[in-house]
Amino acid sequence: LTFVTEVPFQTTMRASRLLYLSCLLVSAVRSRYAPDWASLDSRPLPSWYDEAKFGIFVHWGVFSVPGFGSEWFWWHWRGTQEPLYVDFMEKNYPPGFAYPDFAPEFRAQFFDPEQWADVFEASGAKYVVLTAKHHEGFTNWGSAESWNWNAVDTGPHRDLVGSLGSALSKRSLRYGLYHSLFEWFHPLYLADKKAAFKTQEFVFRKTLPELYDLVHLLSSSRYQPDLIWSDGDWEAPDTYWNSTQFLAWLYNDSPVRDSVVTNDRWGAGCACKHGGYFNCEDKYTPGRLPEHKWEKCTSVDTLSWGYRRDMTRDQLLDLPAIIADLVRTVSLGGNYLLNVGPTADGTLPVAFEERLRGVGGWLAVNGEAVYSSRPWRVQNENATVPLWYTSKGSDVYAIFLEWPVDNVLQLGAPKTSPASNVTLLGYPKPLRWMPRGPTGLSVFLPVLRTPLAVGWTLRLQGSA
Ligand SMILES: *[C@@H]1O[C@H](CO)[C@@H](O)[C@H](O)[C@H]1NC(C)=O
Ligand SMILES: *[C@@H]1O[C@H](CO)[C@@H](O)[C@H](O)[C@H]1NC(C)=O
Ligand SMILES: *[C@@H]1O[C@H](CO)[C@@H](O)[C@H](O)[C@H]1NC(C)=O
Repeated sequence: LTFVTEVPFQTTMRASRLLYLSCLLVSAVRSRYAPDWASLDSRPLPSWYDEAKFGIFVHWGVFSVPGFGSEWFWWHWRGTQEPLYVDFMEKNYPPGFAYPDFAPEFRAQFFDPEQWADVFEASGAKYVVLTAKHHEGFTNWGSAESWNWNAVDTGPHRDLVGSLGSALSKRSLRYGLYHSLFEWFHPLYLADKKAAFKTQEFVFRKTLPELYDLVHLLSSSRYQPDLIWSDGDWEAPDTYWNSTQFLAWLYNDSPVRDSVVTNDRWGAGCACKHGGYFNCEDKYTPGRLPEHKWEKCTSVDTLSWGYRRDMTRDQLLDLPAIIADLVRTVSLGGNYLLNVGPTADGTLPVAFEERLRGVGGWLAVNGEAVYSSRPWRVQNENATVPLWYTSKGSDVYAIFLEWPVDNVLQLGAPKTSPASNVTLLGYPKPLRWMPRGPTGLSVFLPVLRTPLAVGWTLRLQGSA
């Protein structure tokens, strides 16, 4: 409009042309996605996701009952029949005990979604992803397609997906749902597999109805699924799963079409190639800045995603390791999704809670360099100690993971000017510094009496 009033020449004509052009533009922006990868991959990722940077992953299901080995327990026991698992069952359970017999013991009697949500919020995470259904097929909501193998008909007798969702929504934490496309032992899946995935009985009668159900179920409540974390795709092509048809619906017509984010596990060969953001593989850690938005998922228990009763302290990531991993991931443009496995009783093991609260304490001071940050032109350097960069607007953040012995930190990459200034997040006064040559600077750190061995952030202003 401003443009039109400034050019008093054939105004009506121009105005109507402009109107026509802007209508074209709007319809182009709102255009529908076709059920093919070229179209679906062109969808811009809703901005909340990149801004969030840090999420909590929760693996919870019937596998939490044996709480042994990993969430793949059923497969290792009955699928590949590994001696460790076969022996465990022989020693601890009566003959004839079958995996579904664990379900009544999945009681979640101490599950307090408000308490979980408090811990997740205190961790500084901005989203939480729960296993709505893992490869065992047990649904943590009352799925009509999962008769007697869901959390409402048996076990907790409770809609776990829904109750966690409403607790999260009170704290403005976004909610993601992990969903396994395949199920190890579902008869319809095994039949399709035997037919070399030429038939799609399992997809049409189980997978797709449940996926649509999940989105509708949550959207009809006060909260909405903001993320579909797909998994279990790798044995069959995306055409078997009808993935592109589902995603086209999700992006065009679903109640969450404007906010929902997805990952890249939608069929064999999709990982690191198609979908929303890329997970590539579990615990994927790129060596340099990727071109596409990505997420690193990893687990506090380095040996399992699900709860293990036999985990030991040395098998867990400690707080400095988690902070270092988070910082590296964010600096390389990724989101960090940190997993915890609750018990079948519905409690978060205290060792996990400690670490989550520790990350939150660190982010309370250093979060300015994390949330809504962007990768800088340089990602890391080791001039004195390992150091990772992020940026926001014209501010540059240098996060260092060890305290230099002489309290002087050398930075090689930033170009300073006399107007540049340097602050340490959480410390009230600007720091003294001097240029090191054409680029780089030496920063004189305050002598802190008890520098926690975790990680500190310098904010550089007026440098490039
Ligand atoms: C599955 O995809 C095919 C096209 O490949 C389509 O004709 C069919 O309607 C889809 N079914 C569902 C339930 O999405
Ligand atoms: C810094 O050191 C780490 C660990 O030794 C190494 O992987 C990384 O490539 C180094 N970075 C640079 C920029 O030299
Ligand atoms: C640091 O530099 C920025 C940008 O040049 C400026 O806005 C800010 O006021 C400066 N702060 C101090 C304490 O000098």
